[in-house]
Amino acid sequence: MNSLALIIPAAGSGERLNREIPKPYIEVAGKTILEHTLARFISIKELREVVIATSEEYLDTARSICQRVVHGEISNTCVAGGAERQNSIFNALQKIGTVDLVAVHDAVRPFVDKKNILHCMQVAEEDGGAVMGVPAKDTIKKVDRNRVITETPDRKFLWQTQTPQIFRKEILVAAHKKAEEENFLGTDDSSLVEHLGHKVKMVRGDYTNFKITYPIDLKLAEMLLEGNE
Ligand code: CTP
Ligand code: MG
Repeated sequence: MNSLALIIPAAGSGERLNREIPKPYIEVAGKTILEHTLARFISIKELREVVIATSEEYLDTARSICQRVVHGEISNTCVAGGAERQNSIFNALQKIGTVDLVAVHDAVRPFVDKKNILHCMQVAEEDGGAVMGVPAKDTIKKVDRNRVITETPDRKFLWQTQTPQIFRKEILVAAHKKAEEENFLGTDDSSLVEHLGHKVKMVRGDYTNFKITYPIDLKLAEMLLEGNE
């Protein structure tokens, strides 16, 4: 398989969780959420480098976490993030060396499955871009400004997108460059690659790969990691 770099956006303020400490640095079962997440990737033998984007105040904390967790031949770099997630990833991308694939994975998704990551890498190698997701469980409605329903897209074509999102390096770099030039802001990396006009494939993951966003998600993460369901 091809060589891999991992970008971890960890520079958010966690408004929806509303805690003093930013989400990646909250401790659960004796370790920060960022450490739980890193642990899911560290044994992938194609992994060459890890770049973490975080706020200025947490750069030292992120560095010491990397020193503890990112071992051996895997290099690690911590950079300051930006105002939007997309800006944080743009900053991190500038630090990536010579690799074939770049995976972007949220610091706050500590339950991603290694087999699914490897599957995503394989599809990214073949098609250039692959994102993990799950089929939508609920019927999704499109509404207008007054919340009047305007459309009910067929559920069998609707997927909830997660991370990792993995791309050939040159495709992700080109997508971020074009987005920057055109002031195009997307909520994930795939949307930038789609905007570039490149194919991205959906890879089936698990519902357990949820993002810690609201207090209920943190509670669930604590139950799962502390093992007292
Ligand atoms: N992120 C980032 N830079 C930003 C915003 C978000 O690196 N400017 C990161 C977060 O730290 C998180 C991931 O992107 O690991 C997913 O974002 P999200 O869950 O939205 O986290 P926050 O933006 O921190 O939370 P909220 O939107 O509730 O403020
Ligand atoms: Mg956010």
